[in-house]
Amino acid sequence: MSESLYIDKRLGKEEIYLQILPQLKALVQDEEDWIANLANTCALLKEAFNWWWVGFYLVKNQELVLGPFQGPIACTRIAKGKGVCGTAWQQQKTIIVPNVHEFPGHIACSSASLSEIVLPIFGSNQEVIGVLDVDSEFLACFDEIDARYLEEVLRILSQSN
Ligand code: SME
Repeated sequence: MSESLYIDKRLGKEEIYLQILPQLKALVQDEEDWIANLANTCALLKEAFNWWWVGFYLVKNQELVLGPFQGPIACTRIAKGKGVCGTAWQQQKTIIVPNVHEFPGHIACSSASLSEIVLPIFGSNQEVIGVLDVDSEFLACFDEIDARYLEEVLRILSQSN
C-alpha cells in the first residue's frame, strides 16, 4: 500500500472522485480491520475535498455511535430517526440536505456546518450497520454526484471487511 495520495485539486469534483477511488481501493483492500479502513477513508476524503467534517457513525445497541472521523469534535450518540444521520438510518436511504436550517430536527454538532450528505452503510443482510456523514460550511455543497461516488466509496469499503 502506498502511504501517500495523489490528488490534483485543480480538477473538478467528479474527476477528483475518479482519481481517489482506485487509491481508496489500494488503501483498504489488504487490510481486514474495519475501523482502520474507516479511519483511512475519512482521512482520504478530508484530504481530497477539505470538507468541514467527514466521519462514520456505527449502529451499536440500536443507537448510532460516533466512529472514525476527521474534523471538529462531534456528538457521540444519535437515536434512530433523529437528525439527518438517524433519518438516513431509519429510511435506509441517502439524504442530501442543502441547508441544515431547513431540515427539521437537524442535530447541530457545529454551528459552522450548513449543508450535509448522509449515506447508510448496509451489512451483509441488507441491514443498516452505520452511516457516512459529510458536513460542509457552505450551503448546497452536495448533490447527486457526491451521492453516486460516496456510494461507490462505501461499496469499496464493504468489500474490504
Ligand atoms: N449532522 C448530523 C449530526 C452529526 S454532526 O453533524 C457530525 C445530523 O443531524 O444527523
